[in-house]
Amino acid sequence: QKTYLSNGELIEWKGKNDEVFSTISSTEDYQLTLLGTIPHMDEATAMEVLQSACDAYSKGQGDWPTMKVAQRIACMEDFVSKMKEQREVVVKYLMWEIGKSLPDSQKEFDRTVEYILDTIEDYKQLDRDSAKFHKKDGVYAHIRRGPLGVVLCLGPYNYPLNETFALLIPALIMGNTVVFKPAKHGVLLLSPLLEAFRSSFPKGVVNVIYGRGREVAAPIMQSGRVDVLALIGNSKSAIALQDQHPHKNRLRLVLGLEAKNPGIVLPDADLDLAIDECISGTLSFNGQRCTALKILYVHEDIQEEFNRRFAERVDALKFGNPWDEKVMLTPLPEPDKPQYIQELIDDAEKHGAKVLNKRGGETTENYIFPAVLYPVTEEMRVYQEEQFGPVIPVKPFRSIDDLLDEIADSNYGQQVSLFGNDIKRLAPLIDTLVNLVCRVNLNSSCQRGPDVFPFTGRKDSAVGTLSVHDALRSFSIRTFVASKDK
Ligand code: G3H
Repeated sequence: QKTYLSNGELIEWKGKNDEVFSTISSTEDYQLTLLGTIPHMDEATAMEVLQSACDAYSKGQGDWPTMKVAQRIACMEDFVSKMKEQREVVVKYLMWEIGKSLPDSQKEFDRTVEYILDTIEDYKQLDRDSAKFHKKDGVYAHIRRGPLGVVLCLGPYNYPLNETFALLIPALIMGNTVVFKPAKHGVLLLSPLLEAFRSSFPKGVVNVIYGRGREVAAPIMQSGRVDVLALIGNSKSAIALQDQHPHKNRLRLVLGLEAKNPGIVLPDADLDLAIDECISGTLSFNGQRCTALKILYVHEDIQEEFNRRFAERVDALKFGNPWDEKVMLTPLPEPDKPQYIQELIDDAEKHGAKVLNKRGGETTENYIFPAVLYPVTEEMRVYQEEQFGPVIPVKPFRSIDDLLDEIADSNYGQQVSLFGNDIKRLAPLIDTLVNLVCRVNLNSSCQRGPDVFPFTGRKDSAVGTLSVHDALRSFSIRTFVASKDK
């Protein structure tokens, strides 16, 4: 990637570059594969790019924030049709850059296109709603939704297209202008889309930068010219960036952060179903999903059977390159991840847990086979940290009240999966659980989609709500004109 996008131009970068490697090996003798380079941008360039987003917004007076709804929609439709032409190449990048399997990579692309089209429809509805007049005490109000200003957007590596666009698209369609910095992995796949951004939107509306967060994103925040920080990643980075802003109270946050979603298996659960869902819930995309099940709580009465059958199922999973057929486990994009997962296993073993499955912890250069750890206790790192990778802590429980207290004390509050059959017993439990997290999945694993449903979390898991419908509201403010006459 030799260019960056600023002020409606793809500008050639003449400075230092960073190399982008893939951990995927298509040969027997494993080596990192060099995929390309990206600009290692500096503060001065980042500030020029920010200036372009500020100029395009022009304190709310720019062409984009004042543009008619139909015109903004036309820009978005033009973008999506150009994006569709790039499907094959983007899917290939998804596999090579982040090791996502072929079906999941295709799904990520198609889901993103659908997200954009649904957003356009929802935006039209929002516009129809704003045409209505409200009347109270002789005052007529024409209430609509307006943009917030300049958005700094940082995307994650695990859904570099879909989750990034779940921030970018609503931010743009509501009339904001954006400076976007992709994550370290999953960065080249945006290259084929830069020209579409350039040609579909007026100049300065979408800008793309590269480089280290502390060298480019931090100074952008320090300028005080960012109105919205939109980030999907960890809370440490989100807090560090917020802290750079000189007027934190003015900053709107849209954040998708960490989670440690529990899977709770009750004694009367359908074990076949629970095990199936816990396999996909813990290990889809190697557990590198904020919505992954990151701890399993299994009732003592069924523990033995669950442990034996679950461990056997994990050992039967197939590891391979993303394009191999029926592969579930694929290379990890972060070269240091296997070492980190091994440290969690060692720490758990030191504190008395055992690896239940025969293949747990087997390593190759770019992978570590998932380990099922039991019994997990609170002093273990794998209990406390969001592992975001292939290791599965299993903790026994007897009293549901104690378990609810434990979930209530967690720093996270995104989702829960609950496996059980006795509806009389489940109903009050569900009522309590939805007050501890934001989504309870009954007899199914946790997930973000369908994208029209609200996606958010309590505590350290999220700020603001994403989804087709909610994100339009997260990236806008209600404004109105009041008058005594209609
Ligand atoms: O990483 C967090 C994503 O929002 C997970 O999305 O549940 O569709 O895999 P997903």
